[in-house]
Parts: sequence; structure tokens; C-alpha cells
Amino acid sequence: MSFLDQLFRKKNVDDAIKSAEQEAIHGGGLQKNLRVIDLTALGIAAIIGAGIFSTIGSASYNGGPAVVFLFIFTALACGFAAFAYAEFASLIPVSGSAYTYSYVAFGELIAWIIGWALIMEYAVGNITVAVSWSGYFTGLCESAGWHIPAWATVDYVSAKEGFEVTSGLLQAGTPASLLTDAQREAFSAWTEAPQIGGLRTILDIPAIIMSILITALVYVGMRESKTTANLMVVLKLIVVLMVIIVGVFYVDTDNWHPFVPNGFGGVMAGVSSVFFAYIGFDALSTTAEECNDPQRDLPRAMVYSIIICTVLYIIIALVLTGMVSYKELDVNDPLAYVFSRINLKWFSGVIAVSAVVAMAGVFLVFQLGQPRIWMTMSRDGLLPKRFSHIHPTFRTPDFSTIITGLFVVIPMLFIPSDTVLNLCSMGTLFAFVLVCAGVLKLQMTPDAPRGKFRTPYVNAKWIFPLLLLASAAFLFSKFQKETTDWLTNQKEAYSVEDLMSGLSEQEINLVRTRIMQTDSAGLAAAQGTLATYLDKLNDESYHQTVAAMPIADELKFESGWNHFQHKIPMWLFIFTCLWLAVLGFRHNLSLIPILGLIFCFYMMAQIPFKSWMGFFIWLVAGLVIYFGYGYKNSRLANGKTT
Ligand code: ALA
Repeated sequence: MSFLDQLFRKKNVDDAIKSAEQEAIHGGGLQKNLRVIDLTALGIAAIIGAGIFSTIGSASYNGGPAVVFLFIFTALACGFAAFAYAEFASLIPVSGSAYTYSYVAFGELIAWIIGWALIMEYAVGNITVAVSWSGYFTGLCESAGWHIPAWATVDYVSAKEGFEVTSGLLQAGTPASLLTDAQREAFSAWTEAPQIGGLRTILDIPAIIMSILITALVYVGMRESKTTANLMVVLKLIVVLMVIIVGVFYVDTDNWHPFVPNGFGGVMAGVSSVFFAYIGFDALSTTAEECNDPQRDLPRAMVYSIIICTVLYIIIALVLTGMVSYKELDVNDPLAYVFSRINLKWFSGVIAVSAVVAMAGVFLVFQLGQPRIWMTMSRDGLLPKRFSHIHPTFRTPDFSTIITGLFVVIPMLFIPSDTVLNLCSMGTLFAFVLVCAGVLKLQMTPDAPRGKFRTPYVNAKWIFPLLLLASAAFLFSKFQKETTDWLTNQKEAYSVEDLMSGLSEQEINLVRTRIMQTDSAGLAAAQGTLATYLDKLNDESYHQTVAAMPIADELKFESGWNHFQHKIPMWLFIFTCLWLAVLGFRHNLSLIPILGLIFCFYMMAQIPFKSWMGFFIWLVAGLVIYFGYGYKNSRLANGKTT
């Protein structure tokens, strides 16, 4: 076999199933006790969580009520991808999710890359969940009169960065009353933290304790975890429905005007947050070996849980942006916040309690998923044997579970949660893209094996190119600037945040003096704060104001490679669309997986380039490990099939 053949050696479907069955026969298998209702509950338990309880706040703030379009778009993307997942789950009903599917469709190297990327979804995603959980939990303790110091509720890097920004703002004359809660907390975390040997002890203690406790629950067994998940999901649904039913009476339709206050860009700024709210249905595919009838039940459960959550999300987004102005929603606990705003404090408390439970539920499902993927990878020889060791009493992958716990807790100490959110969405979207591509690949392979469940077939031959043309025409007519932006590389003003972070105190004063001469009323309305003033300008006046600033051009505009790099994801997206149009035409491919791939890729293209780079570095690290271990130890390399 040539080196390339080795890299793309494929798993055969029957072998994948047989090897899982053998593990079960030899006593190493997992308990089989999940039915469609449990699976749907597990799906909902994984989906409804930090996204709808927390990150939806900033998405609504950026996009306004129009954020519902993003919810609909994301639901479609996830729905299409779910069909692809379901098709694979019914073809290869073993643990391992996208990893196992790509092993069959694309071969070992891609499978490894996917398995590695999934760590971003499960372990890294769980950092966002734990941190959001801690936000609600700390708020609850606060309202019960128990104050947890700021240094015990945030990670080190966020506190340090927040402190630097806040002291800069204070030095530049920003009144303390204008600081956001997050800025105030970062400032006190940094200044009040106890020091050990000169090092500030800043760590999110509630998030760490919760992570350890739930990892322990997962360690002792699926049965306990399943019962817990079922209970949690009932509670979550009740609360979400209550928010909708009570909230609807407080909707003031005036808050829906303007519906799209910050244009297309504002809506798309929420991609990672909204997508995060949907992640989780795919985690079901990691439980295939614990289902009574995975081929029938997994596809159903995925589709049921996505439909239920989508309906709830769209209504919640409308209720939320109808109850208060979208401008108030940039908070960590938007659902609790809107009710405390209308003086229903007790109800806001009920929501906070449920959010704490709901997010713990999501955490649980992700903590279940990650070890099962590693277990499958280890059975294939791509990870050391210990990763597939099953605990003799609890019948759970014990070693992998512990490592998963460490993977969550250790980075939690250092990585800021917004960085984590983007990386998690990147990794998950990447997996979705490859699973959709996997279905297309199977369609192009003559005599490829097919499972019981098939995605409904619509021939993409003509429809897809027509859809591409129609959407391009629509977007171009509605959002000309955004849709043609990637074609040019003209210098552009930095965002307010980037601009401010590059200015010295002296430069800020120069700029402020200039604005005093041209718009002193506007500056006074922003209480003299430059950043607040700039934030309030619309796109056009912002660019004019920046252009007129009496400072060097490099401080105002981004140009050249620095500017172009942000457009690379969009170029890749356009290229993928054209390529799929050609493939679809030539091979009569199915429309749904094509749309799943394109929608997910589009969302990836909206994630900042910095996260693309972070993800790329992560993948390179994964390749180093693969060539150092998996390439040599793979079962396929050693001629074993089962
Ligand atoms: N969808 C999950 C959540 O929102 C990840 O927490």
C-alpha cells in the first residue's frame, strides 16, 4: 500500500458494526437501555442550555429582533445536517458519531481530523456551558445574599484583559457608572484577588466544582445519568414554556421596530451564539451502542429534538426582543433579566434556578459524548488502549471520562469564554460539513452500503445552481455592500473595539477634542466617552468620523494582508458553492446534504478569522499526534478488521 493509500484506508461498514458487537459479547460493551423517548429527551437536554439561556443575549443585542432569521437559518442548517447524521447513524449504528462516519466515507486521516475537531465541540463546548452555568449560579447566590468574590467567578485571562481595558477606560475619563458589569467584575477580580507567591489566584470555582461533580456522575454510569437527563429535560421544557406563556403578555410590538437595526452584519454577528444554541442533537449519535434500536430510533430522535427546540427558540427570540428593547439584551442572563426588568422578580428567580439545572443537563450529555468518541478511536488503534477501557462495575469508559473532565477543567482556568465559544462552533460546523460531504461521497460511490434511513432525495442537478443564482441576486439587491465586500480589498475602518484598543491616552484626547468641535452634543450624550459615542453612530457616520480623526492612517484603517485575511473564509465558501454546483450537476447529487454542507460552511465563514487560525493550529497539533501514534498503531495498519 502506498503512503497515500495508508492515509486514506477506509473502515468497512460491516467491520465497524462487528467490532462493536464483539466488544459487547466479550463483556466490554455498554448497557443497552435507550428508547426513542429517552433519546429525544437526551437530544433536548443537550440542545436547550447555555445558548438559549445565555448567549442569545448578545446575539439579540447585535441583531435586534431580526435575530429570529438567524435562528431559522441555523435550524435549517442543523436540520439538513441532522438528516446526514441520521443517515450515517442508521448505516453504522456504533458510538463515535461523525468520526466513525468519516472513517467509512473518507478514510482514516479525515476520520482522525474529525475526531480531533470534535474535542472542540464536546470538551471545549462544555467550557462555555460551565462558564455560563457559573454566571447564573453566581447571580442566584447573590440574590440569596451570598456574595462570591469576583476573583472566584472568572478565568485568569479574562480578568487580566478586562482589567487592562477597564483601567484604560477609566484613565481616558470614562465615568465608572458607564462601565459594564463585566468590566467592573474583571476590574475587581484583578485588584482583589489573593496572591500566592506573586501570582493572582483567579479561577471560576463554581464552574470547576460543577464540572468535577458531573464528570463523577458520568463515570458511575449511564443509567443514573439517563434518569437525571430525563428529569432535567422535563424541567427545562416547563420553564421555557412558562417564559413563553408569561412573556407573551408583556410583548410590546413597538420593540420590534426597527426589526433589523444593525443590518445584515448585526444579525450575522450572532452566528456562533445562535449556532451554539443548536449544538447537541448530534451528540445522540455517540450513544448508538446504548440504544435498543439505533437504526430506527436515532434518526427519529434527532429530527424530533431539533423540531421541538427550533419552535421554542423562535418564539423565545420574538418574546425576548418584544418585551424589552434589543439594546438592553447584552447581558449574560437575558431570560432572567427581562422578567426582573418588568418587576416579576420571583419569576426571574425561577428562571435562574432552571437555567442552572438546564445547563448542567447539557454539560452532562457532552461529558457523556466525548469519552465515547475516544473509546471508538481507541478501539480502532488511533488512541492508546486505555481510552477504550470499560469500568468493570459501572460499565462506562472510565479512563476517557476522567481525561474528558481534565480537558474541560484545565483550559477553563486560562481560556476566555468568547474565544472558546467561537472555537466550539468552528469545530462543530466543521464536523457537520464533513458529515454532509460524507453522504454525498457515498452517493457518488457505486455499490456503497446504505442504511435503513435515507435522506429524502431531491435531485440537485438544476435546483442547486438555480438556488445559488436566486440567493446571490436576492442578497445582492438587499445587502449590496456585504455581498460584494469579499471581492475587493479596499482599506476599511477598524471596529470600535479594535480602534480603541490601538489608541494611546493622548490620541484618545486628540480625537475627543476634534469631536467636541464637530458634534459636542453627541459627545455629551455619550457622557464624554469616545467608545460609547462611536458605538452609537450608524455605519456611514462612523466611517466619516474615523476618516476625519487626527491620527495616523494605520490606526484607523485595516488594509493589505491584515484586511484580506478576514475574507479568506468567504472565498473558500464561494469556491465550495461552485464546486458543489458542478459535482451536483454531474452526479445528480441529493439536494439536502448539499444544502446542509453549504449552510454550515456559510456559518463557518462568518466566524472571525482569528478563530479559523486557532482551529487550524489545533488541527496541526492533531496531525502531529496522528503521525506519532495512530498511523502506526491503527488496526487497519496492522491488518485487523474486527
Ligand atoms: N446547545 C447547547 C447549549 O446551548 C450546547 O448549551
